[in-house]
Amino acid sequence: MSEPTARVLSGIQPTGDVHLGNYFGAIQNHLALQDRYPGECYYFVADYHALTTVHDAKALRQSVRDIAITYLALGLDPARACLFRQSDVPEVTELTWLLACATGRGLLERAHAYKDKAAHGLPASMGLFCYPILMAADILAYDASLVPVGQDQLQHVEMAQDMATHFNETFGAGAVVLRRPEPLMSKAPRVVGLDGEKMSKSYQNTIGLFLEGKALRKLTSRIVTDSTPLGQPLPTEGDRVLALLDLFLDERGREQVRGWYRTGARDGQPFGYGHAKALLAEHIETHFADARARRQHLIDHPEEVDRVLAEGGRTARARAIDTIERCRSTCGLR
Ligand code: ADP
Ligand code: TRP
Repeated sequence: MSEPTARVLSGIQPTGDVHLGNYFGAIQNHLALQDRYPGECYYFVADYHALTTVHDAKALRQSVRDIAITYLALGLDPARACLFRQSDVPEVTELTWLLACATGRGLLERAHAYKDKAAHGLPASMGLFCYPILMAADILAYDASLVPVGQDQLQHVEMAQDMATHFNETFGAGAVVLRRPEPLMSKAPRVVGLDGEKMSKSYQNTIGLFLEGKALRKLTSRIVTDSTPLGQPLPTEGDRVLALLDLFLDERGREQVRGWYRTGARDGQPFGYGHAKALLAEHIETHFADARARRQHLIDHPEEVDRVLAEGGRTARARAIDTIERCRSTCGLR
């Protein structure tokens, strides 16, 4: 073990547009942590993981760049956080194998994400089944101590903890060869989607960060509500529009909107779900306005993005090589 200081690591799959769930559940935390642990944050685009569902090379390359652009537009600072492509560090696939040899099959059979995807009719490849081992390798390869993720990934981080322990016990006679990571959740670990289920690219219920104008209003108007008529008191418990609005509001703002909900009126005028949805669209537009502009600049200058990813890949790979050398030696491969 070389690194006793905190090290932060997280990944996001390039499987579609980044949405409010990704942002409030994970990315906002990633950005805050670069202030707290400058030089110790590693964030990557999980393109190996995406191969479990994306089978179109061109689309995958495009999505990887889109995610990198999104992070940079939202404020990731390459001087404080390392942004890279997972597949620029092929050592993680070797670590995946070493971990697999110390991991019981039962552990993987208990993975909710796998069971959930299989239940939604997604074909279950071995890649999907072994997904948590690759994710554990991602975390353990960089000696990460903190893994900021949404609630849906909690079990995977716990599995990484188990795999680190099993590896240390199986091959290292209990010595700490791999560091135990801890999950870190944001204040919004489970953001709901248009239909009230967890917002997820897999469930087509997302609201993208950079939508604006009519397209955004059309989408927010699709959020499922009950049928309380305009001007009547609206329920504040379990309402999806309110849950999404809360993400953008401080304590005072939340109380104010709850007042409009409880009375069905705002400034003496009737207030209904249509108004709440329009208000949500306004908040989304304003909140991401600066990032939207920076995003456009990066779309027009792809070479800036490629440079950040290439440099990030070199930094991350050097870390992972240290770890894999240590693991090889522990297992007797050298
Ligand atoms: P998706 O489920 O849409 O495919 P990812 O699996 O790529 O999203 O998730 C990237 C990060 O965003 C992870 O840390 C994940 O936990 C977080 N995240 C995804 N959806 C949500 C959500 N609805 N609420 C909170 N966090 C989420
Ligand atoms: N599985 C994560 C997701 O779908 C992405 C991911 C891959 C990840 N490797 C990781 C997240 C390592 C945190 C740490 O969201």
